[in-house]
Amino acid sequence: EKKITIAIDGFSSTGKSTVAKGLAKKLGYVYVDTGAMYRAVTLYMMRKLFVTETNFNKESIIRHLPFVSLRFKYNEEKGFAEIYLNNENVEKEIRYLEVSQQVSKVSTISEVRKMLVKQQQEMGKEKGVVMDGRDIGTVVFPNAELKLFMTASTEKRAQRRYDELVERGDEVEFEDVLKNVKDRDYMDSTRDDSPLIKADDAIEIDNSDMNLEEQFDKILKIVNDKI
Ligand code: C5P
Repeated sequence: EKKITIAIDGFSSTGKSTVAKGLAKKLGYVYVDTGAMYRAVTLYMMRKLFVTETNFNKESIIRHLPFVSLRFKYNEEKGFAEIYLNNENVEKEIRYLEVSQQVSKVSTISEVRKMLVKQQQEMGKEKGVVMDGRDIGTVVFPNAELKLFMTASTEKRAQRRYDELVERGDEVEFEDVLKNVKDRDYMDSTRDDSPLIKADDAIEIDNSDMNLEEQFDKILKIVNDKI
């Protein structure tokens, strides 16, 4: 059995990370959540520069980038790696809606992308990796042996994200979550640098009407053909 690179891209809240985590566990691969990296950079800038919709200064974000250090550390109990921002576990904080509302704008900055893509390529250089994001099959690992592109209806995705946030105790309105999903999809697919787009050789999976098990079975079959 050979080790391969699995790239999973798609719109917000399509269940990429659930699939990626499941695959990594099954195959004994490393899972890398690249969205967590963009979120952690955004959190740093929100704390340091009070970045908001109206208070956004690209130059000062770029100037502060060298002070951001990211690391993933495996959590035995949870069964996946959590992200650390300058040695602080920020896994929970990066998922707040406030961070989701700023992350796509921060992610348009080429300097931010360059720094993170380099770290991602480094983490995947030994193969045996499942990486999810928006530009993995197009920019980070254009030669990945397997590329998946996940989609689902906007409403379904917003509902899933809303349920997730409520489940962990966040106080959010469905309308705000729906708006955020739409805003991020728009910004992610229209930015100049590495826009979200399906790679030509990616396999598209629409999971609007699939449950987790059906989805996982389908994907596992595809993977088994490749290894
Ligand atoms: O995957 P997640 O929803 O956590 O990603 C948060 C945001 O980070 C995305 O909406 C996108 O703006 C940005 N992102 C990106 N490139 C990636 C992963 C995430 O631009 N590879």
